[in-house]
Amino acid sequence: MEELKKAVAKKALEFIEDDMVVGLGTGSTTAYFIEYLGKLIMEEELEDVYGVPTSYQARLLALENGIPVVGLDEVDAIDIAVDGADEVDPHLNLIKGRGAALTMEKIIEYRAGTFLVLVDESKLVERLGQKMPVPIEVIPAAWRAIAEEIEVFNATAELRMAEKKDGPVVTDNGNFILDARFHHIEDPLDLEIELNNIPGVVENGIFADIADIVLVGTKDGVKRMER
Ligand code: 5RP
Repeated sequence: MEELKKAVAKKALEFIEDDMVVGLGTGSTTAYFIEYLGKLIMEEELEDVYGVPTSYQARLLALENGIPVVGLDEVDAIDIAVDGADEVDPHLNLIKGRGAALTMEKIIEYRAGTFLVLVDESKLVERLGQKMPVPIEVIPAAWRAIAEEIEVFNATAELRMAEKKDGPVVTDNGNFILDARFHHIEDPLDLEIELNNIPGVVENGIFADIADIVLVGTKDGVKRMER
């Protein structure tokens, strides 16, 4: 699996050119991409490339690997954003947010000229929600009310608990995460909009109609899916 992640991360470098502003995603696959991109910058094979991180993880990795970092509010445009995903359906709709960075990821990826997604073949599904819950970032005081509200959608929601901290996961924005399991997601775009309409929801992990290109690592090489 690590080899497939490395292969897609290497392939993604072909999309990066001098003078680009690059959105840097979160997760283990993007971590390889950040490492390889940093190497090209340090070796001066790429010039004037800046990274806009989607999380503290991406920011730390970028700094560690020599990528000049800028904030979203310091750039006029983002040329390309590169990020992983937890599920990809045949229409390139995604579930993201296992790493709890979905809000900044969506803001940056929505703004990018091209949103390039890096996955291995285990992430491909026929229908979103088949394997993974939909993460929802919520204002802490509202978590229980929102969890109850979500039952209206024939779903169950669980507060995500931290592993190396007592209590719930707290996102980079200071919020909680609910992981919602839906019985059946018929229309991802519709559900994405409806979830964001619940007061107290900051953002949810359905990324419908945002991805432009998906690179899929398979045992037979890297395959490209495009809308
Ligand atoms: C973080 C994310 C990640 O991009 C997603 O979970 C994929 O991660 P990985 O490449 O480690 O499988 O959405 O919020």
